[in-house]
Amino acid sequence: MNRPYIICHMLTSLDGKVTGDFLYTPTGLAASETYYEVNRLLRGDAFACGRVTMESSFTGGFRPDLTPFADAQVPSGDYIARQHSYYAVSFDRHGNVGWTDAFIHDEDEGYDNCHIIEVLCEDTPKPYLAYLRSIGVSYLFAGASEMDLPLALSKLHDCFGIRKMLLEGGSIINGAFQRANLIDELSLVIAPMTANAEDKPLFWESTMQEFRLVHEKLFHSSGTVHLRLRNAANRYMAACWCPRGSDCDFGMQCREGVYCRLLEVIDVNEHDTAFRFGGDRAQFFRTREEAEHYLQTIRQTNAK
Ligand SMILES: NC(=O)c1ccc[n+]([C@@H]2O[C@H](COP(=O)([O-])OP(=O)(O)OC[C@H]3O[C@@H](n4cnc5c(N)ncnc54)[C@H](OP(=O)(O)O)[C@@H]3O)[C@@H](O)[C@H]2O)c1
Repeated sequence: MNRPYIICHMLTSLDGKVTGDFLYTPTGLAASETYYEVNRLLRGDAFACGRVTMESSFTGGFRPDLTPFADAQVPSGDYIARQHSYYAVSFDRHGNVGWTDAFIHDEDEGYDNCHIIEVLCEDTPKPYLAYLRSIGVSYLFAGASEMDLPLALSKLHDCFGIRKMLLEGGSIINGAFQRANLIDELSLVIAPMTANAEDKPLFWESTMQEFRLVHEKLFHSSGTVHLRLRNAANRYMAACWCPRGSDCDFGMQCREGVYCRLLEVIDVNEHDTAFRFGGDRAQFFRTREEAEHYLQTIRQTNAK
């Protein structure tokens, strides 16, 4: 099955919480700045959130009046309103998120101008589907009344060409991805403080899973730490590159295990697990073809 490479990118407390008052303290707000900066750097073809996060971050909980659509005829099947270069994927089982436009408008370029795709179950009421069509929001069905995440990801890959997707919370949707072993990489921005007991964890109802460190960075002024870890159980190709190319003057660092000098695709699993790939520039892909495609775009950019 083709599906996007999934990076779960989250801001957490030291005790692994992702909601609550800690986010609004000076320490939490400094970590937020880092979170959004890393989001812009990682930049996938899409970012994705659960229904609650989409409502709290983008629609303010707006619920549209669906009465004008009560008797609307809606063609069956998925609705692909348009292809675009960057998408916002909303996991919304029963069709509740009150979008008012086909695109996200946000002052942060990491979220601005994403075309919205709603991922729904087949029991979503028809008036909501008609409403989405009226404002040009795309939608896909995955599952009868419960979300079939592998099917959703396969459709996102095949219908929209999404190869890399940032999963950005909250706790419930992250947990559903984690239990289905659909998280390839974790990108954790950790604020140096604990949260309250009632705050939600990174993964709601998680299972045991091992990850290997790819990259770590300490932001000295705030004490925020950024970790990238890849799922130890999955098979990946790493696209390694360095803008310094053959003039790289970090030879010692490379010899110590950060492989970032060459434009090269590497099968991660064929190397020692301690071997590190490309520092914060490492890009992982599910297939060699997708990693080669990425490096080709880097070569073209460098050649300009
Ligand atoms: N720290 C961070 O980096 C960060 C990032 C994002 C969000 N957050 C915080 O997280 C909080 C929201 O998180 P949350 O855990 O309450 O909600 P959430 O994960 O954002 O959304 C959960 C909802 O998604 C829908 N859903 C779609 N597919 C699903 C599936 N396969 N399994 C389960 N649910 C599915 C369900 O809504 P229906 O029942 O309606 O289908 C479910 O209730 C907010 O406070 C937000 O600020 C923090």
